[in-house]
Amino acid sequence: MTSQYPYAKVTFAFPQLNWNPMKDLPDFDPFLDVNWMDLLGLARVDSTLNKVGPGMFLPLSRQIAQYEAELKRPAPALSKFLQFATAKISDEAYANIQRRHLNRQAIDALVEMLKTAATLGINSPWEKYLNFPAFAVSKFQHAIRLGLHESSALDILDIGAGPGHFAFVCDYFGHRCLALDKELDPYVPGLDRHLYHDLCEIFGVETMTQKVRRGVRLELPHRFDRVTCWMGNFHCEYDFESGPVGKLTDWSADDWRFFLSDLKENVMKEKFELHFQITPMTNAHSLAYLKSLSQAGNPDRYLFVFDETTQF
Ligand SMILES: C[S@@+](CC[C@H](N)C(=O)[O-])C[C@H]1O[C@@H](n2cnc3c(N)ncnc32)[C@H](O)[C@@H]1O
Repeated sequence: MTSQYPYAKVTFAFPQLNWNPMKDLPDFDPFLDVNWMDLLGLARVDSTLNKVGPGMFLPLSRQIAQYEAELKRPAPALSKFLQFATAKISDEAYANIQRRHLNRQAIDALVEMLKTAATLGINSPWEKYLNFPAFAVSKFQHAIRLGLHESSALDILDIGAGPGHFAFVCDYFGHRCLALDKELDPYVPGLDRHLYHDLCEIFGVETMTQKVRRGVRLELPHRFDRVTCWMGNFHCEYDFESGPVGKLTDWSADDWRFFLSDLKENVMKEKFELHFQITPMTNAHSLAYLKSLSQAGNPDRYLFVFDETTQF
């Protein structure tokens, strides 16, 4: 079945919705004065939102309890981390953030944003990050894969850290992580800050605002043992001045060489690891360059790993 509601410009093949707010959230908090029809329209066009949609409206402890129940036999280390999160962040403190970012005005703004984003097929709403387990668990798994659960304390720089889930996991394992992101404007009318700032604050992670730019050296307060980057897109930029669909500019292999050499010379300690998981939108030349240098990782999944022996 196809329909165009609520997006006049675009026609979508509607996937089956796998949730229904009235059924899945029978006791949702009355602060959620949202337009469910708009939200359902959004969930239909955005597969991530469709998947994580109901969870982001639940109290944090219930999000976690439901997630664990679905897993049936969660690994003990993961359970311990999720218990830690429940103990550290109260439902009420988390609900304050939900109230700010999931109210009627916010959902209206989200619908407007997604109309444009859906036209481009490139975006997914920030609100999805309010579903804590959906995003924290994958970061927990990255941390385990990097051996952070059994390593002595490391200085870690997370580039494009967004809501800060990875930094939260690193801190949990006793590391010192700096969550770096570019400047982000609040997108909800009447709000003074972006959702990422509220989440980083509640997670208690150390943040730094700095935009990674082609050909510009990073300026950081100290050196690091690890750099990580998950779902990275700092090297891709849409220029909307050229028209409503925008024009994608992406770094060349030389831009990557400059950036990685800068990390090696000016940012990292003597022994280090860089873990970059980047967007599939990355151009073929840059991918070939990164692949030719990557020591490990999984290039087919856009995951590249370098260390102090890599000659950029
Ligand atoms: C797809 S999100 C991923 C967020 C987070 N790493 C995660 O996995 O949940 C990409 C992040 O990169 C940030 N970003 C994009 N361009 C950037 C740039 N030039 N410098 C720094 N951060 C950037 C965005 O603001 C956003 O937080």
